[in-house]
Amino acid sequence: ISNNSYACWLQYKKIANVAYEKKVKLFLETVVAAESSTVMETALEELQAAVSKMTGVHLEKSAEPPANHGIVLSTAAHFHQEEIIGRHVLAGLGADGYVIRSLATDRKKLLYLVGKTDKGVLYAVFHLLRLLQTEQPLEQVNIVENPRNPLRMINQWDNLDGTIERGYAGKSIFFENNKITANITRIKDYARLLSSVGINAISINNVNVFEAATKLITKQLLPDVAAVADIFRAYGITLFLSINYASPIQLGTLPTADPLDERVQQWWKEKASEIYRYIPDFGGFLVKADSEHRPGPFTYGRDHAEGANVLAEALKPYGGVVIWRCFVYNCLQDWRDRSTDRAKAAYDNFKPLDGEFLDNVILQVKNGPMDFQVREPVSPLLGAMKQTNQVLEFQIAQEYTGQQIDLCYLVPQWKEVLDFDTYAKGEGTTVKSIVSGSVYGFSHSGIAAVSNIGNDVNWTGNTLAQANLYGYGRLIWNPELAAEEIAEEWIVSTFGNEPLVTAMIREMLMESWSIYENYTAPLGIGWMVNPGHHYGPNVDGYEYAVWGTYHFADCHGIGVDRTTGSGTGYVSQYFSPNKEMYESLENCPEELLLFFHHVPYTHTLKSGETVIQHIYNTHFKGAAQVAWLIDKWRELEGKIDQERYENVLDRLQRQLKNAVEWRDIINTYFYRKSGIADEQNRTIY
Ligand code: GCU
Repeated sequence: ISNNSYACWLQYKKIANVAYEKKVKLFLETVVAAESSTVMETALEELQAAVSKMTGVHLEKSAEPPANHGIVLSTAAHFHQEEIIGRHVLAGLGADGYVIRSLATDRKKLLYLVGKTDKGVLYAVFHLLRLLQTEQPLEQVNIVENPRNPLRMINQWDNLDGTIERGYAGKSIFFENNKITANITRIKDYARLLSSVGINAISINNVNVFEAATKLITKQLLPDVAAVADIFRAYGITLFLSINYASPIQLGTLPTADPLDERVQQWWKEKASEIYRYIPDFGGFLVKADSEHRPGPFTYGRDHAEGANVLAEALKPYGGVVIWRCFVYNCLQDWRDRSTDRAKAAYDNFKPLDGEFLDNVILQVKNGPMDFQVREPVSPLLGAMKQTNQVLEFQIAQEYTGQQIDLCYLVPQWKEVLDFDTYAKGEGTTVKSIVSGSVYGFSHSGIAAVSNIGNDVNWTGNTLAQANLYGYGRLIWNPELAAEEIAEEWIVSTFGNEPLVTAMIREMLMESWSIYENYTAPLGIGWMVNPGHHYGPNVDGYEYAVWGTYHFADCHGIGVDRTTGSGTGYVSQYFSPNKEMYESLENCPEELLLFFHHVPYTHTLKSGETVIQHIYNTHFKGAAQVAWLIDKWRELEGKIDQERYENVLDRLQRQLKNAVEWRDIINTYFYRKSGIADEQNRTIY
């Protein structure tokens, strides 16, 4: 097992720059922790281990504050050197926030890492280690950090049998044979990776809770779940479980799971009390109910608020929360039925219930109204419920964006979502300001995302997909970071400080989303993938299926009319002026044209190209761009280690095959449908 692939961005390689190393070593003599706690111990351990690897220095733990050279770790409450960090600075720290300040004179080289809590101290340590890995000077460090989002969560979609729903990097690191795995080391290393980028919550099992996983909340499995919670707790990460809404029936003796039935209410109360005996700081439940055939309150004629509140009542005495997913839609549709529009479903189901959820319920809303396509508008539900806690859901796993074979750096896509102006409370009501909780003063808010890791040595299949996990954490900590900046940090931490390598990989990452979009479904229409596994092209794969994901291509045109004037009326779910923008064929952003409008193939885009010519052009271009990616990557041979070089090269070659297949299948399909030839007369099969 090569350490490089496995270590991801926590390489902590011996610092090669001798002059730099000499300077930083002056700060690295002793370390003192002002108090002790599990998380503080972790902070110390991480610091000592990494410093020793990077500099060879064993940071001596001391009981006394260092006189001239060393590091102080402290929480704000225990830090009394106000002449160093002003009282107002410490008072201004939010939960999980921290300060890093250096004091460097000729005689003294001191570093102060002060967190609001011990978690803040741990984040400060990881920040300091990032400064060292990226070779930043320590002499004048003056950093104040507060995470923008209170909840910064990862959702595993791991099944108890060890498979992963939408997993592209091996099997689960959590489960095998319907039990929790014995490989605790791997779970700890995952906790380290997550904590190093600020993640503070995780749900460890798939949102589709099948039979075996239903038992996670029973005494059969709770002791092992508690052991996993211990590992994460040491890294400041709270553990959640996905639950089966029908648990009172499946685990208990009740004939019903009706949330208004007193026996059901009592059952959940007892269940919560049992869980908290094992895990005193248990986060709560993640729930997929009445969605894609999972059980839920609809069975009993109850709505989602009634459904969620019974769980919330049960968790409330212990400070737990219910994260209730809004991915609810009719998955038994008929393509002939033009009045049902899947895009409208989340809003239609949840918006009328605003104000009816208890305060410890959070609604989790996917970034788009459909399902993690390469291009989708922002979900109109975000910001639409002023009295209901919301978290945003992203998918780091590349289900529809290349499955960690094809390169697709998702941070630019996520940034577009976060920066989107919903106008929910006038201009400037961006998604990032809503989900951070600042617009409506939510009591719980933040961001969650589906993980992209498995037990492959490099965690993510394609080594470059590690950038998405890293980038997710960094971006939700601070949505103002640029995608390039995050990419660069990741590359330097992962591959070392080689300007040429950094420039090359950064360019590849930054181009990758648009490349992927070029050779797959055009102009925001989405899908066109093989049913089931969702990899590779199949234009009509879902066109006549029950899932509500249609493109409506015929010999005249393509696209879904979602306008109020002549279509499904979906656009009316947006606030003005967004609804007018999408309603108008002229003003609708062209990358989303076919999501909102049905147009003839001869419709002319702002570029002057027709839609059909745009389809040909982007598909020829996209495949050519993948060949370009391969050329770029080949230039790195010998400049990075062979194992990671070959891993990525292999994926890029598979990506090229995929892109060529997409190009040809899409071009042929639309040539045949439209009867319009490519202006440039390129080969269409
Ligand atoms: C998608 C995905 C499913 C998943 C679902 C969800 O439809 O393909 O595998 O269960 O999303 O988010 O619940």
